[in-house]
Amino acid sequence: MADVTNGDAFVEFERVQKSYDGENLVVKDLNLSLPKGEFLTMLGPSGSGKTTCLMMLAGFETATHGEIKLDGKPINNIPPHKRGIGMVFQNYALFPHMTVAENLSFPLEVRRMSKSDREAKVKRALDMVQMGDFGGRRPAQLSGGQQQRIALARALVFEPELVLMDEPLGALDKQLREHMQFEITSIAHNLGITTVYVTHDQTEALTMSDRVAVFDDGRIQQLAPPDELYESPQNSFVAQFIGENNTLEGTIKEIKGDHCVVQLADGSLIDAKPVNVTQPGEKTLVSIRPERVEMNKERLSPDAHTLKAEVVEFIYMGDIFRTRLRVAGKDDFVIKTRNAPDQRRLQKGEQIEIGWLAEDCRALDA
Ligand SMILES: Nc1ncnc2c1ncn2[C@@H]1O[C@H](COP(=O)(O)OP(=O)(O)OP(=O)(O)O)[C@@H](O)[C@H]1O
Ligand SMILES: [Mg+2]
Repeated sequence: MADVTNGDAFVEFERVQKSYDGENLVVKDLNLSLPKGEFLTMLGPSGSGKTTCLMMLAGFETATHGEIKLDGKPINNIPPHKRGIGMVFQNYALFPHMTVAENLSFPLEVRRMSKSDREAKVKRALDMVQMGDFGGRRPAQLSGGQQQRIALARALVFEPELVLMDEPLGALDKQLREHMQFEITSIAHNLGITTVYVTHDQTEALTMSDRVAVFDDGRIQQLAPPDELYESPQNSFVAQFIGENNTLEGTIKEIKGDHCVVQLADGSLIDAKPVNVTQPGEKTLVSIRPERVEMNKERLSPDAHTLKAEVVEFIYMGDIFRTRLRVAGKDDFVIKTRNAPDQRRLQKGEQIEIGWLAEDCRALDA
């Protein structure tokens, strides 16, 4: 986790807690520190506290405990409109009585920008979200996705140092969403904007972010760059939340340094990397990605353990093959193989043997 006393931090949460009712903490102990220019995404299940964190940073909610700092200064007592933050909320919150162009021009007027500068910036922002022809409409005359794009343009039009976005692309179709993902990250990086972004969509989180904070139950479960989050999940929640994942229940049989042997319920043995297990006898959930399962024994080390598996379903997906297997009494084990010229298509009912490199299989908390 990032150092909370980091002197270069632009945004800092220090031991922040939040309760709405004075009883239940919906944010439990948040420590988070972002350097200037970072694009950080909060990802997590519904109700895990993401919007609450953004609202506290924006100033619409106060922290029950702890401190939030912007550019080294506590902001607990600074009102929202003085924080200079651009925001896109889950509901778009456009001013209904203003046209689209007036909505965008508003934050610039507040900053006393000249009319010609305002017009140029509004035009640029509208073009960015492909809404150049809609400046004269009112929000009620736009579709949900169009309103969302206007809200996005309004948050970026005054080139704030910090932008908060709460699921800004949820109402858009796949193509437009991908286009906007690209636009948002390139604008943020080109202008050096620090961004805190909230999404449910893990692909979005992995492709857009410098780092991702995985939330569950009011706590950050892991904070890491996308590749590290996907390849080195620190606990079972993160392993199962991010990407597709096979989970096997077992008991630690032996641990030697970076390698452990896990016994499954049916007695079979597998190799794994001990991540948050410490001693033999402990229960564990082991986690292995579908693309890291190996069917070719020659690619495994000579003393590697293998498991018997039966093909339950074979799905041709074009670029890859997705095969579902019955393994250790359960039939939800998935492997993915590249559609290479020498890759055989498995048949339903076929008996095979699978294995993996110990470092690709993580023994996590049960
Ligand atoms: N104004 C409020 N008053 C009381 N409880 C609230 C309020 N706002 C949110 N909560 C509760 O706080 C918890 C966290 O809510 P929050 O909106 O931060 O979740 P979230 O992670 O943004 O979820 P989602 O992905 O569904 O938007 C939830 O249990 C929610 O019911
Ligand atoms: Mg939310």
